[in-house]
Amino acid sequence: MSNHPKAARPDYSIHDLIANRWSPYAFDGRPVEQEKLHSCLEAARWAASSYNEQPWSFILATRDNPAAFNAMLECLVEANQEWAARAGVLMLTVTSRSFVRNGKPNRMAEHDIGLAIGNLTVQATSLGLAVHQMAGINPSKARQVYAIPESHDPLTAVAIGYVADPKAEDAFAERDRAPRSRKPLSEFVFTGTWGTPGV
Ligand SMILES: Cc1cc2nc3c(=O)[nH]c(=O)nc-3n(C[C@H](O)[C@H](O)[C@H](O)COP(=O)(O)O)c2cc1C
Repeated sequence: MSNHPKAARPDYSIHDLIANRWSPYAFDGRPVEQEKLHSCLEAARWAASSYNEQPWSFILATRDNPAAFNAMLECLVEANQEWAARAGVLMLTVTSRSFVRNGKPNRMAEHDIGLAIGNLTVQATSLGLAVHQMAGINPSKARQVYAIPESHDPLTAVAIGYVADPKAEDAFAERDRAPRSRKPLSEFVFTGTWGTPGV
């Protein structure tokens, strides 16, 4: 089991890659190698999805293209711009609203994009990268900047990069140093009737 300070301290044994994933604010500004980025995207590609619809699209902005990187940075809420500016890659996730197969609304699209990004985070962790997801985006701005059609919705942004030691003056240094916590299983795993702990 890992003993890095942000590693999960699980009550039951879990895989190191899951325990060691966390969402840093301090990135060191290094670019992400294309090979590693492609592996992360490939891991997302192989996620399960309802009817194998794969209702996700991703828009990438990497540090080697500062204009594109800044354009995506500006699609984030201000609080996220502050720290995400040091990531190696920014990525916008976009859901497809309806099934291609029959045009009906896809209620599982957001669920499935979560699975894809879950895969991506595990792959990234295995490659020494960190991922910090963001709900804090400006969806209408993103729609306009990237000409996203009405059939699709911008959902989240994802920062990918290498972790840095937080500097004392960093606004988020305390959060980066704080241990991670979770509710116990007994609070959300039920059996028989709602609220009766199942574990
Ligand atoms: C869908 C989603 C949206 C999130 N949005 C933000 C965000 O806008 N800004 C932020 O700083 N962190 C955001 N986070 C990060 C969470 O705060 C973080 O995952 C949570 O505190 C648990 O910490 P851990 O990922 O280090 O275990 C988001 C995470 C997810 C999964």
